[in-house]
Amino acid sequence: MTRVGLIGLGRTGSIVARELLNHPDFQLVMSLVSPGSARAGLDIGEYLGIGSRGLSIKGGNHLESELTAANPQVIVDFTSPEACLRNIHLVARHEKPIIIGTTGFDSQQIQFLRMMALQNRAPILFAPNMTLGINVLMNLVIKTAEVLPNWDIEIIETHHRHKKDAPSGTAVKIGKLLADHLDRPEESISFGHERVGQRGPNTIAIHAVRGGGVVGVHQVVFLSENEKLEIRHESFSRSAFVECLEHLIRFAVLALPGFYTVEEVLGLVPPGKRRSSSTQADIA
Ligand SMILES: NC(=O)c1ccc[n+]([C@@H]2O[C@H](COP(=O)([O-])OP(=O)(O)OC[C@H]3O[C@@H](n4cnc5c(N)ncnc54)[C@H](OP(=O)(O)O)[C@@H]3O)[C@@H](O)[C@H]2O)c1
Repeated sequence: MTRVGLIGLGRTGSIVARELLNHPDFQLVMSLVSPGSARAGLDIGEYLGIGSRGLSIKGGNHLESELTAANPQVIVDFTSPEACLRNIHLVARHEKPIIIGTTGFDSQQIQFLRMMALQNRAPILFAPNMTLGINVLMNLVIKTAEVLPNWDIEIIETHHRHKKDAPSGTAVKIGKLLADHLDRPEESISFGHERVGQRGPNTIAIHAVRGGGVVGVHQVVFLSENEKLEIRHESFSRSAFVECLEHLIRFAVLALPGFYTVEEVLGLVPPGKRRSSSTQADIA
């Protein structure tokens, strides 16, 4: 059994904890929340409503002692950029591989994580989007754009009515990837169409649809005078990313020190050849 330490037990961390607590190959040995959190001290199973599991949730101020006492083989982080950057020093000092699922880092912070990975004696896996299908979709849209560079590109994302940000970070990331690979300025990315006159040839338009309980749909539509090609991904459940996380955990415990992106771990880009977007700010 691989011993996993989880930092963050919010909306996403709770989904991950449930999966890990019931997983045949992984053992959740550490669960941290923010220092002083009301959740600290509770049994994680009781907190998640799945019955006591004998593992108590600790405040983030116990990270050092937990790394020693629980001795996890890999850390999974779903917190915030500030919390992650604060905690990663201790994780590095204990030479633990870390999978960063947290999003919202700016490009300087990502550069800092890269630098840290060069000095560390353990790998850093940077995974702002852990949905397997979305990572494959990103690969497919780049290939399509390279073959059909003059077709019009429209990105449509649909999410539940509660989603706070629009457009989704993933849609913006797809737009940036395409602009990057088609050598178009970021200004070519427009949010919806609001102007007089016809569509610009270089425009990459992003549209957000909000409603109901839709977990997440991303469509990338390529249009020419005579044809339309659509690449579409739909998440059916909020734990769509857990399958990818399993891949990442298995990779992290065996990986050499270094900075890895999801694309590399999934073999979507050759090791060391990164998509330029992985240096840009990732958007939540
Ligand atoms: N990579 C992906 O595919 C993916 C998928 C979903 C979400 N995410 C990202 O994951 C992150 C978390 O999302 P969420 O919706 O779960 O947020 P959330 O509900 O706000 O949960 C954040 C968690 O982090 C904990 N935390 C905050 N500061 C901490 C510290 N210093 N030490 C330890 N724990 C600390 C919080 O503790 P308390 O419980 O005490 O407040 C809370 O449990 C976001 O960046 C989100 O965009 C990524």
